[in-house]
Amino acid sequence: MLSSTYSIPENFRISVPGDKSVSHRSILFSSIAKGESYISGFLEAEDPLNTMKCFEKLGVSFCKTGKGEYSVKSQGKGYLKSPDSDLDFGNGGTGIRLSAGLLSGLTGVETVLTGDASLQKRPMKRIIEPLQLMGADIASLEEEGKAPLRIKGKKLKPIHYQSKLSSAQVKSCLMLASITSDVKLEYEEPELSRDHTENIVQFLGGHLTKLSKTHFILEPPYDFSGNHYKVPGDISSAAFFLVLGLLSKSGSLVIQNIGLNPSRVGILTVLKEMGGNIRITNQRQECGEIVGDLVVIPSLLHRTEIKPELIPSMIDEIPILTIAGLFSEGGFSISNVQELRAKESDRIHAMITNLKKIGVQVDEKEDGYSFSQAENIQAAFIESFMDHRIAMSFYILKTLLGNDIQIDDDSWIDTSFPDFKSILRSM
Ligand code: S3P
Repeated sequence: MLSSTYSIPENFRISVPGDKSVSHRSILFSSIAKGESYISGFLEAEDPLNTMKCFEKLGVSFCKTGKGEYSVKSQGKGYLKSPDSDLDFGNGGTGIRLSAGLLSGLTGVETVLTGDASLQKRPMKRIIEPLQLMGADIASLEEEGKAPLRIKGKKLKPIHYQSKLSSAQVKSCLMLASITSDVKLEYEEPELSRDHTENIVQFLGGHLTKLSKTHFILEPPYDFSGNHYKVPGDISSAAFFLVLGLLSKSGSLVIQNIGLNPSRVGILTVLKEMGGNIRITNQRQECGEIVGDLVVIPSLLHRTEIKPELIPSMIDEIPILTIAGLFSEGGFSISNVQELRAKESDRIHAMITNLKKIGVQVDEKEDGYSFSQAENIQAAFIESFMDHRIAMSFYILKTLLGNDIQIDDDSWIDTSFPDFKSILRSM
């Protein structure tokens, strides 16, 4: 079985940057709320900063008051204006999909939403179709079902939507469309996807009635005022250090101030089932979200069966979980993750390609992959596929083994976690 040569100091404390999902939502909700809002703990990475620039073009004013701190002034959703040029969301699926909903419901506002080469390949039909059912005027400008998207904002119709996907981006897109258009939304999804948007609406005093875990009604009025958003540390960024801490030879790690929303903590459940010693301390509630510190002790991991209902709560963590699988007794297997094909890269293809490069024999399926217990890893040149999480996952592997793995382009890491390498160095 593989083992690591890496050690961390005892009780080493780190913080990771703000949650990407909550950072995006803090921009969108402070833009449609009337008055001044304050954001702290904001993720100053390319994706959320691109979204902020887009909302600046729509007439919202953002003033940086400190590291990760902003004051936001908006006259409210009725005052957002058509921008002078296209809105460029870079690599960010959350930015473009949530904003498409918000802008579809804004009467008189005309926009073109676009992004980089990776974003222009990602599926937008999942939001275009339900938005059109609400009466939205939204169209692809080049390839059908892809960005760039042209949107002419208008008053939309209420909708009862039963989504086939458990996607927080689709759900939040429709929630924001309903909010800007002042109409009712009834929404159902197969499994609960991350529910930060629901939490923010309730935190702001909106009317959201949960009929079950996966079914709710959102109703006007939506007269939100400025507020203070405290963004917790991102569990998806913490996941890289969780795996590093669990697989280290010695020492222990405390990852402070992490968002522990139950719809995001699948990675903790699975790593614990694999034998990982992870404890939560200092648990509290902030802005409608559960927050706490994670204490991580090196552990011997073993293969486990990953339940399909856990997948939406760990959808961004599969690449780093796979790295943990390389060190687990009995190997690793994951299924029901066809959604990984629609992320920043086709992550099933990206992981299999790179696993093969390091000498792992992988069994490939349409909805996942598996491999038996790894015995050794060979040095290789890893392809990041324009995907931050692929690059960071293989960085962690390189750190654990201290071998000559190289990554083709690590600049993608800046889309979500610019401090990643400096935190690694500090350890
Ligand atoms: C996100 C939702 C997830 C996740 C993405 C961020 C969000 O996508 O993969 O990184 O902030 O709503 P889906 O819910 O569309 O799967």
